[in-house]
Amino acid sequence: MGEHPLIAAYRTFSPTSAARAERAVKVFPGGDTRSSAHYDPYPLAVASGTGCRITDVDGHEIVDFMNNFTSLIHGHAYAPVVDAVQDQIAKGSAYAAPSIEQLELGELICSRVPSVEQMRFTSSGTEGTQMAIRCARAATGRQKIMKMEGGYHGSYELAEVSLVPRPNEAGPEEAPASLAVDASFPTSVLDDTIVCPYNEPLYAEQLIEAHAQDLAAVLVEPMLGSMGMIPATREFLQTLREATSRHNIVLVFDEVITLRLSEGGAQKNLDITPDITCMGKIIGGGLPIGAIGGREDLLALFSPRQERPVMHASTFSGNALTMAAGFAAMSNYEGADSVRLNELGERLRGGFNEVFQKHGVKARAQGAGSLTNILFTDEPVTNARQALASMIDGGHITALLHLTMLRHGVMSASRLMYSVSSPMDKSHIDHALHALDQTMAELVPYIAKERPNLLAA
Ligand SMILES: Cc1ncc(COP(=O)(O)O)c(C=O)c1O
Repeated sequence: MGEHPLIAAYRTFSPTSAARAERAVKVFPGGDTRSSAHYDPYPLAVASGTGCRITDVDGHEIVDFMNNFTSLIHGHAYAPVVDAVQDQIAKGSAYAAPSIEQLELGELICSRVPSVEQMRFTSSGTEGTQMAIRCARAATGRQKIMKMEGGYHGSYELAEVSLVPRPNEAGPEEAPASLAVDASFPTSVLDDTIVCPYNEPLYAEQLIEAHAQDLAAVLVEPMLGSMGMIPATREFLQTLREATSRHNIVLVFDEVITLRLSEGGAQKNLDITPDITCMGKIIGGGLPIGAIGGREDLLALFSPRQERPVMHASTFSGNALTMAAGFAAMSNYEGADSVRLNELGERLRGGFNEVFQKHGVKARAQGAGSLTNILFTDEPVTNARQALASMIDGGHITALLHLTMLRHGVMSASRLMYSVSSPMDKSHIDHALHALDQTMAELVPYIAKERPNLLAA
């Protein structure tokens, strides 16, 4: 069987990216050095970006709804960030010494995020969630961590347990199995992780009660990002808040993605205060960053004035360049900016859903605020198992939609995740809606042949 015509069309569209990919396989396994940024047949290679547009190596201008997995709140080459970085790089990039810029960004974040009384910078979101776990273990003397089924907290084993709850292995809904994502997971990590179904307050409470004596922390994203931008209900998070408080378990909100939803993150919108908050992505202004913040007595465990502080070294944490970029980005992202971006996100979801209806396809755009994901289902999706079922139903159509949208000038994550950035306005949303309309016109004949279950009756 020959190649799918829509994949062949993508190849025709992107010959220079294809040539780069052929070179890349000689250097990088499978041509890839970042799992989340790879897709088949090969990813589009980018030459430059400015505002909300990127230019690929074949010269196409594409509106970027990927924003480096939601981290570029101001898009590319945002002038205040460029100025701040140029100014700073000329003065050096990293000193292994404190700087005023570190303090300024830290003060800004502490003043905005309700749970953050004190904080520390890390070099990535991954390192931030790792430090949250170590802080919680040190604070409680307990070892086990509860995380959500389908939750993602970075690139290490515990942070990925049951990221993909495969139907034949996932176990009972009320007490999901701890699943490895790949063959690298030690069983000790699986044994130390309690997996909780998302948006199920009753089951969550039962699991916390059953494991309270061993639980150091409950780790939760206010929106299940990797599984298709599934917002948590307030009731669910409130149940976690109350049950963890009863047993002195540290409640950790991973706001690495959701911080953008208001000037103080999802927690401010929800009015629920966790003990620790993990941050990352937008606070670095486009440079690598992460952070952990929270209750002063918990953060105090890192203090060098402790007899045996929780150890956190990290060569590039709080480096001068990232601090300069982060401060420029965050001081230009205030409450009113988040409201505007959230409205654009609403408009995008509403418009996408109208296009799917027009073409009679069972797909929906979901999410909240400036964060959106398309899933192939006509039912609301509230947990990871439902999301995975819709991904299985969507099959290769997800990839075809993604590749065809690229040809029509819209970049998203290959799992169809879209985020809005501040250089965007309604015209960019309209551009995306038009691109989806054109994409569906091309795709529907193939859906009818290859996945007729996705067509509305
Ligand atoms: C919710 C969440 N937590 C943590 C991380 C890890 O952050 P980083 O990739 O900066 O290590 C991510 C990354 O996508 C994330 O989405």
